[in-house]
Amino acid sequence: MKNLAIALLLSSVLFAQDYTKEDRIKDMQIMAAAMSNIETGFFYNNNDLVQKGALSLSDAIRRIEPPLEEKEEKDPMTRYMNEKVKFTNKLAKKINDKTKVIIQRFKEGDTAQAVQAYTKIMTKCMECHSQVRNW
Ligand code: HEC
Repeated sequence: MKNLAIALLLSSVLFAQDYTKEDRIKDMQIMAAAMSNIETGFFYNNNDLVQKGALSLSDAIRRIEPPLEEKEEKDPMTRYMNEKVKFTNKLAKKINDKTKVIIQRFKEGDTAQAVQAYTKIMTKCMECHSQVRNW
């Protein structure tokens, strides 16, 4: 189990180095489509669509990485000033947590909480876009 965790960690580190601007744009488009599916699922009261959208969003947000330069930046002060890695991880974690709320709450019929989680996700998308759209 521990070996598996290490292997996964290693592979994610290795993959992270290959995460390009194109990959990021693709994942962003996947997330936009996922958000739209969730919303349509809300309106049509279609749980399958909500679940599908939330899973796809959760899957994509975990792949999002800031550009490589910061990870490779040797000067800690510059790294600290950029903070894109930390910023990204923080937002991604919040978005992922909220997708879980949507998955759980909508299934239970608690649409109000599901919609609130959706709105929070939207806020997080915009929070990043307003600050680092031009990575
Ligand atoms: C941590 C930062 C960050 C978060 C969080 C984030 N984005 Fe983005 N997004 C970006 C950046 C940076 C770009 C510009 C990518 C580029 O052009 O290189 C972008 C671009 C986009 C685009 C345009 C892609 C294109 O075709 O050019 C869409 C759509 C998008 N984001 C949707 C979303 C949605 C939906 C969410 C929330 C679920 C989200 N983003 C969350 C950073 C973020």
